[in-house]
Amino acid sequence: MGAQRVAEVEAEARQRLAGAADEAALEAWRTAVLGRSGSLTAVLRGLGGLPEDERRAVGAAANTAKAALEAALDARREDLRRAALANVEALDVTLPGRPAPRGRLHPVTQVRRQILDIFARLGFATVEGPEVELDEYNFGRLRIPEHHPARDMWDTFWIDSASSAGASMLLRTHTSPMQIRYIERHAPPIRIAVPGRCYRYEATDATHEWMMQQIELLAVDEGLSMANLKGTLQEFARQMFGPERRVLMRNSYFPFVEPGVELSVDCFACPGNDPACPVCRGSGWIEIMGAGMVHPEIIDAAGYYSTRYTGFAAGMGVERVTMLKYGITDIRAFYSNDPRFLAQF
Ligand code: FA5
Repeated sequence: MGAQRVAEVEAEARQRLAGAADEAALEAWRTAVLGRSGSLTAVLRGLGGLPEDERRAVGAAANTAKAALEAALDARREDLRRAALANVEALDVTLPGRPAPRGRLHPVTQVRRQILDIFARLGFATVEGPEVELDEYNFGRLRIPEHHPARDMWDTFWIDSASSAGASMLLRTHTSPMQIRYIERHAPPIRIAVPGRCYRYEATDATHEWMMQQIELLAVDEGLSMANLKGTLQEFARQMFGPERRVLMRNSYFPFVEPGVELSVDCFACPGNDPACPVCRGSGWIEIMGAGMVHPEIIDAAGYYSTRYTGFAAGMGVERVTMLKYGITDIRAFYSNDPRFLAQF
C-alpha cells in the first residue's frame, strides 16, 4: 500500500460523489468513504503496518485526500441546493393563479332573504319554529280535525315515535303551526314572518317538491281588515317582481282563515294560454301563496277577543317565488345538486 492506493481511493470516491443526487445519497457516500469503516479510513488505519518513511508520506497524502474529500462533499451539497433553488426559480410567478372556487348562496336562500327583507321593512319580525311538529299544532288547533278532508291537502310524513307526552308527531306540512305557537305566547300587536322547511308526502312534478320552504306571515291587531292583507301582499309582489307583473287574488279555502284567498302571479313561461306549459298548465297563473283573515276562533282560543282583535295570515312557497323571479321552469332543479345549475345564481 502506498501513495498510489490513496490516489485510487480518492479518485473512486470523487466519481461516486458526482453521482450522489440527494441528501440521503450524500450521507451514504460519507459513511462509505469517511465513516468508521470507510475506504479512506481503512487507508489511515493501515498506516501502522508501514515502514517509518513510507508511513509519513502515505499518512500525509491520506490526510490531504481526506480534507479534499470533505471539501468536495460540502461543495456537492451546495451544488445540489442551488440546483433545487434554480428549479423553484423556473416557476413563472407572473402567470395568473388558478381561481379558487368560491361558494355562493343557494338561489332559494337568496330569495328567502329578499322576501324577509321586504317584510322586515313592512314591520314584520322574523321568527322560526320547529320542523318536527305535533299533530295538534299542524292540524288540530288550526281547525283541521282528524278525518277532515282538508288534511288531504297536506299529505303527511308521520314520525314513528310519539312525543314524551304520547302525542303524535309529524314533519310539518306548512309553517302555519307557528301562527298558533306565536299567538299563544305573544299579545297583539303581532307582525311576524316565519321561514322554514315543510314536507309533503306527494309525487313531485315541475311545481311540486316533497320538501319545500314556506314563509308564513301573521299580523294580529285592532282594526286589521282584508284591505290590509291585500295592500301588504300587493306591495310585496311589486317589490319582488316589479310593477309590470300582474297579481291575481282568488277565493280559496283554508280552515284556519275566513275568508281565504290564494295569490297568483302571471305565468312567465308561456303567453298565458299554452295547455302544454309545464308551469301554469295553460291557466296563465302560478299560485304562490294561500292567505286570508285569521279565523276568529283562533284569536278567541288564544285568549283575545275576536270582537276587538282581527288578523291576517299568509303562507307562500319560496321555491315558487324563486322560479318566478328567475324564470325557472322545473322546481326539481333546486335540490338535484347540479353545480352547473346552482352556479348560475
Ligand atoms: C298552505 O300551506 C297554507 N298553510 C297557506 C296559508 C297560510 C293559507 C296562512 C292561509 C293562511 P298551500 O298548501 O296552498 O297552503 O301551500 C302554500 C304555498 O306553498 C303554495 O302556494 C305553494 O307556493 C307552496 N307549496 C305548497 N306545496 C308545495 C309543493 N309540494 N312544492 C312546492 N311548493 C309548494
